[in-house]
Amino acid sequence: MNHVAIITGASRGIGAATAKLLASNGYAVCVNYRARMDQAEAVVEEIEASGGRALAFKADVSREQDVIALFNATEQAFGPVTALVNNVGVLLTQSRLVDMDVERFTRVMATNVTSCFLCCREAMRRMPDGGAIVNVSSLAARTGSPFEYMDYAASKAAMDAITKGLSVEAAEKNIRVNGVRPGFIHTDIHADGGEPGRVERLSPSVPLKRGGQPNEVAHAIEWLLSDKASYVTGSLLDVAGGK
Ligand SMILES: NC(=O)c1ccc[n+]([C@@H]2O[C@H](COP(=O)([O-])OP(=O)(O)OC[C@H]3O[C@@H](n4cnc5c(N)ncnc54)[C@H](OP(=O)(O)O)[C@@H]3O)[C@@H](O)[C@H]2O)c1
Repeated sequence: MNHVAIITGASRGIGAATAKLLASNGYAVCVNYRARMDQAEAVVEEIEASGGRALAFKADVSREQDVIALFNATEQAFGPVTALVNNVGVLLTQSRLVDMDVERFTRVMATNVTSCFLCCREAMRRMPDGGAIVNVSSLAARTGSPFEYMDYAASKAAMDAITKGLSVEAAEKNIRVNGVRPGFIHTDIHADGGEPGRVERLSPSVPLKRGGQPNEVAHAIEWLLSDKASYVTGSLLDVAGGK
């Protein structure tokens, strides 16, 4: 099979690490981004310099037309999409639920859940038998993220429900659907939440006593997409240092 992957939100962090790892494993990859074109282009350049195939594509994946354009562009460049990583996720400033406004809640849901729904739907319409999807959820789906981001946690629990439900529907086409649930990973997302040093602060609470690296999550994603995980579907894999 010609392995072709779309990784949403791959201009930095876990998405960028996943794009590079998949490319090094022979996938042609679409590096989706929303705003940071320079960083997405840099990911593509690094992949191409190592002999891989990659394309950067700007699309706000919470929007239906953008998702259709993303799949069209990837198919045009590389052929049918065989792997999808729903990696996009945002969190906003740490806050109690009582202080959140409805615009914030709606934005987080649209970016994290609507994007997952739209990309999964497009993949189910186009993917050949034997493809695979990984949804990047979070430890937050288990904890609920009190005092920080209950909206974000709820969005990740919704993604887990899509993983479970779609895994059964997609099995008819031998398409596997799984999720990873990272814990505290060293990326810039924590600065967006207002606390750049969050991973360091929380590391003592992790059984392995450290935060994770983006590449450690990417390896779990790569394994779930690969034939090595051929009998794994509907599973949620915690990548959280034992938390
Ligand atoms: N880091 C952690 O500790 C942690 C823990 C658990 C789960 N996760 C999950 O892991 C995933 C990746 O996290 P990360 O820490 O690597 O995040 P990150 O560094 O903030 O990167 C987020 C990526 O998503 C893109 N993006 C955001 N909104 C988008 C949209 N509407 N359409 C297309 N792209 C969009 C960004 O693109 P631009 O740069 O172009 O805007 C960026 O490439 C997220 O789902 C996150 O919830 C992370």
